Amino acid sequence: MAPSELRPVGLKCEYRVDPLGIDERSPKLNWALKSEGRNQTQSAYRILVAATEENLEAEENLLWDSGRVESGRTIGVEYGGETLRSGSRCVWKVRVWDRPGNPSPYGGPSVFEMGLLERSDWEGTWISAGEDPDEDFDPPTGDEYDDLGHGLAPSPYLRKEFPLDIPVRMARLYATARGVYELYLNGNRVGEDVLAPGWTDYDRRVQYQTYDVTPLLAEGPNALGAVLGDGWFAGFVGFDPKHRGALYGPRPQLLAQLEVEYEDGSRERVTTDGSWRCSAGPILFSDLLMGESYDARREMPGWSEPGFDDSTWHGVEAEEIGDARIVAQPDEGIRVTEELEAKSVTEPESRRYVFDMGRNMVGWVRLQVEGEAGTKVTLRHAEALNPDGTIYTTNLRSARATDHYVLEGEGEEVYEPRFTFHGFRYVEVTGYPGEPSLGAITGRVVHSATPPTGYFECSSPLVNKLQENIVWGQRGNFLSVPTDCPQRDERLGWMGDGQVFVRTASFNMDVAAFFEKWMADVEDAQSPEGAFPDVAPLLRGSGLIDLRWGAPAWGDAGVIVPWTIYRTYDDTRIVERHYDAMAGWMEYLHEANPDLIRKNRIGNNYGDWLSPKGDHTPKDLLATAYWAYDAKLMAEMAMATGWQEDAKKYRDLNETIIAAFNGAYVSPDGRIEGDTQTCYLLALHMELLPEELRSAAAEHLVRTIEREDWHLSTGFVGVGYLCPVLTEAGYTEVAYRLLENETYPSWGYTIKNGATTIWERWDGWTEENGFQSPNMNSFNHYSLGSVGEWLYRYVAGIDLVTPGYGRIVIRPRPGGSLKHATAGYDSVRGRISSSWKIEDDRFVLEVLIPPNTTATVHMPSADGVSEGGRPVEEADGVEVLRVGEGETVLSVGSGRYEFVGRVARG
Ligand code: BGC
Repeated sequence: MAPSELRPVGLKCEYRVDPLGIDERSPKLNWALKSEGRNQTQSAYRILVAATEENLEAEENLLWDSGRVESGRTIGVEYGGETLRSGSRCVWKVRVWDRPGNPSPYGGPSVFEMGLLERSDWEGTWISAGEDPDEDFDPPTGDEYDDLGHGLAPSPYLRKEFPLDIPVRMARLYATARGVYELYLNGNRVGEDVLAPGWTDYDRRVQYQTYDVTPLLAEGPNALGAVLGDGWFAGFVGFDPKHRGALYGPRPQLLAQLEVEYEDGSRERVTTDGSWRCSAGPILFSDLLMGESYDARREMPGWSEPGFDDSTWHGVEAEEIGDARIVAQPDEGIRVTEELEAKSVTEPESRRYVFDMGRNMVGWVRLQVEGEAGTKVTLRHAEALNPDGTIYTTNLRSARATDHYVLEGEGEEVYEPRFTFHGFRYVEVTGYPGEPSLGAITGRVVHSATPPTGYFECSSPLVNKLQENIVWGQRGNFLSVPTDCPQRDERLGWMGDGQVFVRTASFNMDVAAFFEKWMADVEDAQSPEGAFPDVAPLLRGSGLIDLRWGAPAWGDAGVIVPWTIYRTYDDTRIVERHYDAMAGWMEYLHEANPDLIRKNRIGNNYGDWLSPKGDHTPKDLLATAYWAYDAKLMAEMAMATGWQEDAKKYRDLNETIIAAFNGAYVSPDGRIEGDTQTCYLLALHMELLPEELRSAAAEHLVRTIEREDWHLSTGFVGVGYLCPVLTEAGYTEVAYRLLENETYPSWGYTIKNGATTIWERWDGWTEENGFQSPNMNSFNHYSLGSVGEWLYRYVAGIDLVTPGYGRIVIRPRPGGSLKHATAGYDSVRGRISSSWKIEDDRFVLEVLIPPNTTATVHMPSADGVSEGGRPVEEADGVEVLRVGEGETVLSVGSGRYEFVGRVARG
């Protein structure tokens, strides 16, 4: 039999490459297919899973042999072999057959490993420094922190020695904290995660991480060490409450379990318990918002190695595990993903140096310094500068974003904080001995390590800059949860922001696992009455505002996010998993609004948040539109998961809300109450209007844009729908006009004024008024970057027709000043790309379609379209569906294509 051209590549389990420590009992397997050939499809697959590489290779003692399955499925194939237990290690490979029945070679091997599946697998206890262990733990913070009271405390160092026999076959370390932690084994740092275990509602759910520590163990005595930071558990979180420990608990705790398997099959276990020792160390305090303070003179060389004298250390306080669920971290975790060199340094005041990192970034800096013992270097972080060149920090509100380093005085010293993060472009350095060189500061970029999946590039430098700013906004704010901003005392998982940006995010990065994690946060935050919250994890105990009741367009994220993830990744599990929660939300809305107009009687109502020029979209209208939209998406999700009756129920609900919406807000001439851009955008995007009013409403939309002298006037809610709706309604040139505007309000205006990320407000800084109110003025807030999906879906023209890009549409919409545009996207079914250029009167479109999918290609030319130099009718694997109305519509299977056609464009 001829070998197949298909190759299974990119094997993933639970969306990750070779994950360790998963707790899905029937893990889902994915692969993509690679082939240069056209029209390649998979007709069958076979998966083999074994406990060892040798068994897999020999195809014996298998845990699972799927057998040959006649199916084109490449996504979400559930493991169906022998029951997997805690710690089960699985090695797997997959082969496929193409349409004529030729087999491919095996792809893989790849690995996945189960975590601790049962609560009883956890033997240890939470351990902490306990309450006032000795005066060492009094906050030696200095006067400048007096106003925080006893709000800050040293980060505890914990250690435990244990003997091991050798040879060890393998060892795993399972660990988590209520707080944030770093682990060390025999003096070596374990893993690369930072700020682990990330943020969840620790009262309900704590995530653990799993590390392969086999190579770190030694024969004889070994030592395990941990450093704990306050993190989200005990530190300052959000704008309120304003004291340490107010949200979850007073001090950080560690839970860890080392499992060792010897060559002879016997096992050893070391857990956190009352036998550990504890001490304060060089970290005088660490806090996500306030910063970190480190005194190198207090370092304890060898503290995480065996033989260290810990006689001056004291005992730990042990606490039973409690009721919160302990779950495996499902996503990639937070990492340092890049380093940035400082671009320049100035000295606006004597001995006050300001480093410019060249762009707004999130993370921290590494400091290099040499000087006398006891010298204190202070690093303050800011997003912007005052006119005199000093740093502008008032928009950080109560977040200090300040790190201190006290020198040990022994040659060159290198320091970076570990239990804080800052959003900044500028770093002010004071107390530096001598004059710092540019290399004294290096930026460390920190975020959830969601793998990049997309790129977009075109002939307009302004639009390229916009795309770059969108990506950096995403990088800066996807940090365990999708936050609103990374710099001020907020950094919350605002649901509205998440919802408007999720689709854009899914082009730039693989966010499947990230949002799966966040949806667990959302569900944990749901009120007993069924309301989704405004923020997830919930900021409980906030006296400032009550965030439990799901503001319109915020709470609705609980429906929109699972729907988007299901559509993007062809993943019905996220729907099934949260279906009851979503149904509960729908009931909550219905009970509260029996007359089908959604009036938010309790909770918050932000409307079209931060629309410029006070453009007020009626709040009930916006709320009702979202409710109808929820019902529509619920109907789709119910269909996808086989709940036909529910699908009908939600379709009916959608129709009745739409009727109420039209009755209350829509005039016979297509005018909508409020007459704002967002009114029309909601109605058109969410399909709330009768067919005969759609074009009239679109005309009104264009009128409202013209009224603003061809500017947008949308806030967070409307902005993402703006360009897509205009394009769908036939006003592509208006969309481009908004895209390429450089006058206020526009994305271009922020870029012209130096934006390197997306701003929270269109008028974050203006020529007339300077900075907006410091009470709320972030320069790194991704929400207004939700135009990103339009760049991929409409400018480059890559979109899905069926979930997971099984059926693709390639439909570029050239316009504006653009002469070319290119986008690539690693979909869950493989790489898709669309690249077009206009050369004189020719339109050239290059397309890449992955195996096992089909695409409808819209060439914007009805005149003599060719592919690969041949008339398109004769091209291999291309079917002409339609020619006319300025386009040629084609159907293609996998492969690379180059279409050329004539265009009548100036
Ligand atoms: C946040 C927003 C959030 C909003 C709610 C702000 O403080 O920064 O991003 O969505 O509150 O209206």
